[in-house]
Amino acid sequence: MKTRSFRLVVTALAGGLVLAACEPPPVVTVQRGFRGTGMQQVYHPANLRAEVDKNAPPPVTPSASPDGPKAGQIYQNVKVLGDLSVGQFAGLMVDITSWVAPAQGCSYCHVATNFADDSLYTKQVARRMIQMTQRVNSGWKVHVQNNGVTCYTCHRGNNVPTNIWYSVSPDAGAKGSLGNHGDKIAPSTKVGMSSLTNDPFTPYLQRSEEIRVIGNSPLPVAGGTSIKHTELTYGLMMHMATSLGVNCTYCHNSRAFAEWPQSSPQRSSAWYGIRMVRELNNDYLISLNGVFPDRRLGPTGDVPKLNCATCHQGAYKPLYGADILHGYPGLTGKPTPVQSAEAPVPVAAPVPGTGTTPVGGPSVGTTVSMATPTGTSASVTTR
Ligand code: HEC
Ligand code: HEC
Ligand code: HEC
Ligand code: HEC
Repeated sequence: MKTRSFRLVVTALAGGLVLAACEPPPVVTVQRGFRGTGMQQVYHPANLRAEVDKNAPPPVTPSASPDGPKAGQIYQNVKVLGDLSVGQFAGLMVDITSWVAPAQGCSYCHVATNFADDSLYTKQVARRMIQMTQRVNSGWKVHVQNNGVTCYTCHRGNNVPTNIWYSVSPDAGAKGSLGNHGDKIAPSTKVGMSSLTNDPFTPYLQRSEEIRVIGNSPLPVAGGTSIKHTELTYGLMMHMATSLGVNCTYCHNSRAFAEWPQSSPQRSSAWYGIRMVRELNNDYLISLNGVFPDRRLGPTGDVPKLNCATCHQGAYKPLYGADILHGYPGLTGKPTPVQSAEAPVPVAAPVPGTGTTPVGGPSVGTTVSMATPTGTSASVTTR
């Protein structure tokens, strides 16, 4: 009798532990697609509240007058923000400090005795970051709309954004019979704790390999889809879904993942997002190779790079779509060109209905009008 009640207690305790790992009800479902297609989002109110608190926008600072002498006339070494008035320039420096280096202050980027000096790597990186932010806000409206981004979108008061990635060394952690934890199958937060390959970023957010599961031919052909690309694709999709805090059906109708006409408009936003991230990584970060000190480099010596989570941080729109850019002419202007070390990645438009994108794209410097999968069109200038 004693043993039986002991077993019961143990079972109840074990059951309680298992259930404690589950999310308690209630769960809210929101229908987003046509009736009967099962395109529903499952939200857990407590988790959502935590995300909303985490993604509160920064305080808005009053914008300075555009009148008066220009920063380019007054200061000695202003290469990007020369068109701002001195008031606007000073205001932006103060905000940049609170967004990126609140603990260190101006001296995180400046030599205190000479603000024109470029010898700190952080200042050189910050100048490139200003150009990158301008590029996103003026050249990628097709993804960021008018809300755009500021340094805060990614940095949130940290020197280094919380979500960055490095390429995984192919032979990293070859651990004998315990398995290889390099780019091989192992649970990883990068892919939503699924046991999928750990680096879907190098092929898809740096290189432009095909994000594809379903082949276009009945028989396997050279260069077609493979099991490797299937795993990589699902890995990237897990990253995208967790970065935005959504389910797969936010973008797809799960009866036909590949079909554009059955997908939601958000899938086209994501399609542009992928192309944007590739461009930012190649043109603005990888070309900073040699500027970052060794302690900032990854295991294969590569520079830190960004992905969807760098901006989104768990929200379907970064900072839940707050109007953060208002009053920052220095971050919206036409970007000053960057000398790119890498060839820019061409942008190709998706072909509605086929689920495939053409290989290659328009050459550098052309403005392409891209038909989006939903029938509207948008233009992007390739660089
Ligand atoms: C995150 C890096 C960063 C921080 C922090 C920062 N700055 Fe700057 N600052 C820059 C960059 C980059 C430039 C050059 C901008 C350009 O080339 O258009 C610059 C340029 C300047 C200049 C012009 C110097 C000249 O003669 O060329 C002044 C003045 C200045 N900053 C003041 C400040 C002050 C004051 C603070 C603190 C409130 C500050 N900065 C904080 C990155 C930073
Ligand atoms: C789209 C995301 C994004 C935006 C927007 C962005 N940054 Fe960054 N920033 C990054 C990434 C990624 C890195 C590389 C992280 C690292 O240094 O390890 C970085 C690095 C930096 C560094 C180097 C920090 C260090 O300690 O190594 C500075 C300084 C910086 N950013 C300043 C800025 C400023 C100023 C702005 C706004 C004008 C800005 N960033 C906007 C993503 C962003
Ligand atoms: C934020 C939108 C978004 C979310 C969320 C999302 N996807 Fe995708 N998915 C896309 C886009 C965009 C593409 C096409 C990428 C391209 O062609 O560059 C795609 C492609 C795919 C493909 C390849 C289809 C083919 O043509 O072979 C599969 C399979 C897929 N997604 C499955 C999933 C799964 C499973 C999830 C959830 C874990 C998911 N997706 C979450 C946007 C999304
Ligand atoms: C540079 C910052 C940045 C990066 C990186 C980024 N996004 Fe976004 N994204 C935004 C902003 C800002 C918006 C809000 C646009 C708006 O206000 O409608 C947005 C909106 C979206 C939306 C539309 C949401 C909706 O409900 O309308 C989707 C989907 C999306 N992003 C997917 C992605 C994916 C997938 C990636 C990675 C491949 C990505 N984003 C990378 C800044 C970014």
